[in-house]
Parts: sequence; C-alpha cells; structure tokens
Amino acid sequence: MKPPGRPLHFEYRTDADTNGGGMAADVRRGLQSDPKRLPSKYFYDARGSDLFEQICAQPEYYLTRVELGILRRHGPDLARAIGERAMLVEYGSGSGVKTRLLLEALIDPVAYVPVEISASALKQSVEQLAARFDQVQMLPLCADFNTRVALPTPRREPRSVLIFFPGSTLGNFEQTEALQLLRVMHDEMGAQGAALIGIDLKKDPAVLEAAYNDAAGVTAAFTLNLLGRLNRELGADFDLSQFVHRARYNAQAGRIETHIVSRVDQQVRLQQARIEFATCEKMLVEYSCKYSLPEFDAMASRAGLQVTRTWTDDDQRFALLLLRRGAGPASTA
Ligand code: TRP
Repeated sequence: MKPPGRPLHFEYRTDADTNGGGMAADVRRGLQSDPKRLPSKYFYDARGSDLFEQICAQPEYYLTRVELGILRRHGPDLARAIGERAMLVEYGSGSGVKTRLLLEALIDPVAYVPVEISASALKQSVEQLAARFDQVQMLPLCADFNTRVALPTPRREPRSVLIFFPGSTLGNFEQTEALQLLRVMHDEMGAQGAALIGIDLKKDPAVLEAAYNDAAGVTAAFTLNLLGRLNRELGADFDLSQFVHRARYNAQAGRIETHIVSRVDQQVRLQQARIEFATCEKMLVEYSCKYSLPEFDAMASRAGLQVTRTWTDDDQRFALLLLRRGAGPASTA
C-alpha cells in the first residue's frame, strides 16, 4: 500500500490492492469485528462487474437509466456550464457509457484521466474511448482515488479540470469519508475547475428498497458473489445457500443498508480463522446514501465547495450537480 497523500504518477500496478494480502487482511478484520462487515470494494471481480452491469438494466434499478437520461437531455447545457477545453478526470473508470456521453457533449475536451485502482478495468475503458475520441488524450492513472493524486499534464493545455463522479458512488461512502473525498476533489479541481457528481435523491422508501431488491434476484446474486469470491480467492468455505441478501432503507440515516444475513447458526473457515455466525446475524456490505438537495449543499459547503448547477429528471429521482470552489465554509454557513 502507498502511504496516503503521496502523489502517484502513472504506473500500472497490478490489482494488488484488490487481491491477495490486502483483501485477506481486510476481510479477516471485517469478519472479526462486531458487528461484522465486509468491504464493498471487493464486489467487483469479473463476475461481480458483470452482475453489476445486469443490475443497471433491471426495471427497479432506475438510477443508471435516469442518470443517462439526464446526461443525454442536458448534454449541451452541461457542456456550456463546464466550458471548453476541460481535462476530464473520472474517479473510477466505470463502464464507459456515461463517459462517452459526456465526452461527446463537452466542447473540445483535451484529455481523459480515469483514476482507477484496477489496471485491467483502466486498460479496457481507455482502449475503447481512445478509438472513439482521437482528439482526446488518454492519460489513465492507476491509483486509489481516495488519496490525492498528482494529475498528469496533457499535451494541449486545459482551461480547467472537470472531475466526474457519476453513479451515486459518493453515496457509498459514509459521511466523513464522503466529506474527505469532496475535499480531495476541491484540491484537485484547481481554481477554475469543477466536479460533476451524480447523487440519488430521497424518495418513497418502497421505490428505494425495490431498486436494491430486484425481483429477478440479480442484486442478491451480486452481493452473495462477494462470498463466492472469498471462496474462490481466499479458500473460504461459505455455503452461499445459507446466507441471504437484505437491503432496507434506514429513514433516520437516509440510506439503503445492504446486509448479508446468516440463515442458521454456522461456522465458516477463512484461512486459519473460524468465523461463527448466529441465526439472523448480519454482515454489513454497503451503504447507499440518499440526499435531499439542501442536505447535499450543506455537505459540499463543509468541503469548501458550492453547488452551482443542478440537473434532474422530471420526477426528481436523481441529480447531476456541478460543484465549484466556494467562498469557503464560513461564508456559506
Ligand atoms: N453505487 C451503486 C448504488 O449505491 C452501487 C450498487 C447498486 C450496489 N446496487 C447495489 C452496491 C447493491 C451494493 C449492493 O446504487
């Protein structure tokens, strides 16, 4: 692991942070804590990534569809608000569809910098985009976007940096981590820069819960695949039929909480350790925070950022927000 805060230049590390020692230690720590939890960053092995793409196509999972709709409908307006010759920096490299729409809309973007911990995902996304956008310099950065990175210098000088963080992924971080990430964005965007962030808005809990409990069971397969991955890669012996997926909306905290619940009293072997599960004992695997626009404004201002533009769908299900450096937390209080 790199010490946090140290600048990372373009270097293809392997998936060291998502495999082997790192994963084993993280998982052991999570399963030996009380209550148990598993780090959600390990969802995305090849099978997990494939299942996630399928989640995005489920009728109940409106988030991806609505966000894509906003990008399509407001592309030109977004591009004007962002300005020409931006260097697009994306946290995580995603499936590329949103990136493609944004690059198509932007006015003369100079470079694309995906910041992604998985070298294979990085390679795949830049290869596809390079073929489509020959005027945009591809500068992949293999790094953890939670730490400050030194952004590369493209051949053509950009007018500004645009940080793109779609998919309500910010909502997967707890408050203090989300705030920390907004501060990293604040520092990385520079004086003329901005961040374009996708957030899922608060709404009827039944709609939210359905999105994380699709009828076809794809989300359940996706969360349980995490246990399958531990079996495959760490030699654990989880019996997937003895665990269930559960996603509930916690209205107080304003978030979907996804757990894996043990059906029975059981013991699981994880390397040298034996982990005990009681009947109905749950492991936390993911939070998906939902915001109201004023709540998000308040959080952004604590990171020294200001929401300057908001684009939503007609039903106000999802929002794309443009954030710029504000006058500072004190003056926006
Ligand atoms: N960022 C997505 C979200 O919070 C990721 C996601 C979708 C997810 N469905 C999930 C994460 C189920 C864990 C479990 O909506």
